[in-house]
Amino acid sequence: MTLPRYAYFRGEIVPYSEAKVGVLTHGLNYGTAVFAGVRAYWNEEQEQLYIFRPTDHFQRLLHSAKVMCMDFDYTPDSLTQITLELLRKEDYRRDVYIRPLAYKADEIVGVKLHDLIDEITIAALPFDSYVANDTNAHVTFSSWRRLDDNMIPARGKVSGAYANSALIKTDAVLSGFDEALVLTQEGHVSEGSAMNFFMVRNGALITPTITENILEGITRRTAIELARQVMGVEIIERPIDRTEVYNSEELFMTGTAAQVVAITKVDHRQIGSGKMGPIATRLRELYQQVVRGNFEEYRHWNTPVYTSEKITAAD
Ligand SMILES: Cc1ncc(COP(=O)(O)O)c(C=O)c1O
Repeated sequence: MTLPRYAYFRGEIVPYSEAKVGVLTHGLNYGTAVFAGVRAYWNEEQEQLYIFRPTDHFQRLLHSAKVMCMDFDYTPDSLTQITLELLRKEDYRRDVYIRPLAYKADEIVGVKLHDLIDEITIAALPFDSYVANDTNAHVTFSSWRRLDDNMIPARGKVSGAYANSALIKTDAVLSGFDEALVLTQEGHVSEGSAMNFFMVRNGALITPTITENILEGITRRTAIELARQVMGVEIIERPIDRTEVYNSEELFMTGTAAQVVAITKVDHRQIGSGKMGPIATRLRELYQQVVRGNFEEYRHWNTPVYTSEKITAAD
């Protein structure tokens, strides 16, 4: 991976090599940090870089920060402005991934959340695909369980909780799968290691409700909107049993990094025809149009980097 040239660190944009923390930093030792993952897409024809739904991502970051008792004067808009400045300085003319991180910055020993210094850092790096087999992924059900809202809330996108995601991902990949789905303590399908989950049964698109220990994904919200409004597909948010998944017509996962990943096999069982289905196919096409600023109706989700034009994202 190519490292960024700059980062937003301690209130200013500095060379990336200067954006360093000490080994005793609280967030590093105890996982007391929350993060976001945002993409910006290069539109070659328009010679424009578009950040996708930055206001929504930064709003979620600040909500996550609140769960972890972090106190900031930043707003979604001010964080978007910093990101725009950072991307212009990097002068990226390709797809990039933006990583905002809010963390407990004190270099002390002591497990707590209160009376600590909170910092936000942002860096952006060149980025392409995240899941290799994104049109025919083979996934398994992880033997690990999803963390519960009363353990470490998935909704909070807490850095420490990603040890759970890393266990899920690595055990799946080392066993020869592309990804894993993880079950809640009750045995319902929650999500993937870093993506939300969708299933098609009887023509309807079904996804776990937000109380199933999922991250409330921005791509999930985007997929629901596009499927419902543009494709005219019925959306149902409800708990999902493991064996429903084996008998589904289509499956896919969504995430900022993963985008829309079609699943064609689960635990060696073929899903539907064994090929990417029509809903996933259409949604993948639509998603690429939308994120690159080529779908007029959803242009309010695209914040251009290289103009003074300012479009505010709104649901
Ligand atoms: C656990 C988890 N679920 C779902 C997602 C997808 O969320 P989004 O669409 O906002 O990227 C992510 C993204 O990082 C994630 O880490």
